[in-house]
Amino acid sequence: MKTLAIVYHSAHGHTAHMAQRIAEGARRRPDTRVELVTAEAAAANPESLLAFDGLIFGSPTYLGGVSGPFKAFMDTTGRLWRGLRFRDKLAAGFTVSSLPAGDKQSTLMAMFVFAMQHGMQWVGNPIIPEQHSGVPYEDAANRLGSWSGLMAQAGHASPPDAFAPGDVKTAQLFGENFARALHRLAQEALA
Ligand SMILES: Cc1cc2nc3c(=O)[nH]c(=O)nc-3n(C[C@H](O)[C@H](O)[C@H](O)COP(=O)(O)O)c2cc1C
Repeated sequence: MKTLAIVYHSAHGHTAHMAQRIAEGARRRPDTRVELVTAEAAAANPESLLAFDGLIFGSPTYLGGVSGPFKAFMDTTGRLWRGLRFRDKLAAGFTVSSLPAGDKQSTLMAMFVFAMQHGMQWVGNPIIPEQHSGVPYEDAANRLGSWSGLMAQAGHASPPDAFAPGDVKTAQLFGENFARALHRLAQEALA
């Protein structure tokens, strides 16, 4: 059994919706336990994350970076950083924002640097954008073309589940890929 926590902040539900789709994808892989943990809960007890083999971080993009509550969670992990307690755990990141670009990359980079400072191992989003093979743009996996992490777009003030089908598909594939990486690493450790 491999365990995975998706640690996310969501003020209006879009990032929470994506966290659930990622969890669905990860659960496609047998023997994977997935827990959704809000950034607020993780900030109250960052040590609780030590129990997991992998952590996926999620935040809306606010002004080109992670949201305040997500940053507050990051900062509570300082005492774990001192002992490199997250070392060798797998990590990945996702972000939702309202504009097609919206400086989402900066948010993913903040999560990447955070994971690197903790000695974690980063897992990306290895999906060739499906619009290149003729899938309609709205339906295409990785239509936004992000490999360093998952990006998704939700219209400003739209309902929490108002995502293009392609973004939902991307989230599920992203979760599945992360779970696959968790299990593959475990197999290599045994070899
Ligand atoms: C303070 C604030 C800053 C934002 N900054 C950006 C931004 O830089 N780029 C962008 O595309 N959208 C930006 N947005 C829009 C949010 O990223 C978007 O509404 C997102 O879906 C919110 O996620 P949530 O529903 O999980 O809270 C911002 C929203 C707020 C409230």
